[in-house]
This record gives sequence, C-alpha cells and structure tokens, in this order.
Amino acid sequence: MISSGNLSKLCLRRLSTGTIRMADFSVAQLRVSYRDKGDLLIENSLESKNPFQLFDIWFKKASERDDVRQPNAACLATATKSGIPSARFVLLKSFDESGFTFYTNSESRKGRELDENPVAAMTIYWDALDRSVRIEGSVDKLGESESAEYFNTRPKASQIGAHVSRQSTVIAGREVLSELNEKLEAEYADKPVPKPSYWNGYKIVPRTMEFWQGQSDRLHDRLVFERAEQAAEKQISGCHPGENGWVLYRLSP
Ligand SMILES: Cc1cc2nc3c(=O)[nH]c(=O)nc-3n(C[C@H](O)[C@H](O)[C@H](O)COP(=O)(O)O)c2cc1C
Repeated sequence: MISSGNLSKLCLRRLSTGTIRMADFSVAQLRVSYRDKGDLLIENSLESKNPFQLFDIWFKKASERDDVRQPNAACLATATKSGIPSARFVLLKSFDESGFTFYTNSESRKGRELDENPVAAMTIYWDALDRSVRIEGSVDKLGESESAEYFNTRPKASQIGAHVSRQSTVIAGREVLSELNEKLEAEYADKPVPKPSYWNGYKIVPRTMEFWQGQSDRLHDRLVFERAEQAAEKQISGCHPGENGWVLYRLSP
C-alpha cells in the first residue's frame, strides 16, 4: 500500500528523449483504507431522512475538521445544449431547503452553458471523512439584488478581481490582469466597488442527492434521495420513505 506521504513523489520526470512519463510507482497501486466495519450508512438509522438536513450534518462535520481545508469546494458539471460536458470547481456559498448556491461570471464557459441549458451536477468529496455528496438538478440564476447582497460582503480585492477578470476569455499574458487590477485599485480606493452585471449567483434546485460513504471492504454505501413523485414516475422499487416529500433508496456501489 502506498502512504499519502508518498503522493508527493507522484511527479512527472522529463526524460532525455523529451518524452514525459510517470515516475516512481504505478498510480494504479494507490489504495487507502476507509472506515471501521461498524460505521455504516443504514437507511433506518440515518441522522436525518431530510436530505438537506443530512447534508447540513455532514457539512458541519467536514467543516469542524482541520484536515478539510475547503469543505465547500465542489466540482460543478454543466453541459451545452447539445450535451458536451464541462466540469470545474466552485465554492458553495450557501445552502438551505431551496437549494445550493454558488457565484460566478455569467459570461464564463459555465455561465454560457447554464444560460442555454440550466441544469447542473455538483459533487463534493471530503477525503478525510471518506464521504461524498452528489447533487443534480435544475439551476436558477439569482436576481440582481440577491447577488449584489452577497457581492457586497466580499473582500474588496475579490470585488475588484470580479471586474478585472472576464472569466474564460483568452488574454495575452498575466500583465493584462495585474495592470488592470492596479488601475482599478486606484480608481476604487475611496469608494465602494459595484457588482458587475455579469457576476451572479446560481442556485441548484436538487432533483436527487446522493450520499456516499466509503467502506474498507469496498462495499461502499450509496443512498440516493429523490423527490417522491419523480421516483414514483420512474417506478423505482425498493424506496424508503424520507421526509418533506423525499424518498430514498440504495444503489449498489
Ligand atoms: C477550489 C476552487 C474553488 C473555485 N471557486 C470558484 C467559484 O466559486 N466561482 C468561480 O467562478 N470560479 C471558481 N473557481 C475557478 C473555476 O474552477 C474555473 O477555473 C473558473 O470558474 C472558469 O471556469 P469555466 O471556464 O468552466 O466557466 C474555483 C477553483 C477552485 C480550484
């Protein structure tokens, strides 16, 4: 088994021929142990059968740990209308029973994709907890005032950064950004930075939420929450009643 310390050795070595190959060991041999055999995710003894509350419990647990530096880092997948996917990390900025909110530039690749195809999948992985949550649903763009309310709480440097970066456009070099940043820092030295119209919040309204927990015997737990009427339409058998209009079922790992 390869320890996490050895991960630092996972580097690319440039050979004299100019080709690049993986050094030291095979990535395929990387393996970790998950949790104790008794610590299972069982339908009848969940901390909550409301998926938002369960997410809240898991999120708090992740947030309390020193070894989870960014518990709100989430991989967000979007797609064009013709189905070409793209994924990138964003920071989850709030969540409640209405959905999961992040902020971004509406003119970016993800912004354009959400505009033409307002659905998304978001996955969080808390390595230290051996837990992951997958959220899938439709996406609502927040209104100007709601986005501005959050924008106004951001550090000034981040607010200026939103003006500096026309996210996902090609630029000639780093100096393009640093020069504009310097100029805007001077311009806004004594006044508040307004929210750019292209910088907005988006809320994923989940149709399904999956809670995954790794197990050492590799028989990992996967519990999916789905809206009751949607599960009934799909005639999913083996559903257990959840709370607030949700049902849950187990998937094979
Ligand atoms: C941990 C992490 C958090 C990030 N958070 C955000 C975010 O909240 N909003 C955002 O627009 N980009 C965020 N980024 C940058 C994006 O991953 C991405 O580079 C950028 O949004 C452009 O993506 P796009 O061209 O697919 O639209 C983050 C990157 C990382 C690694």
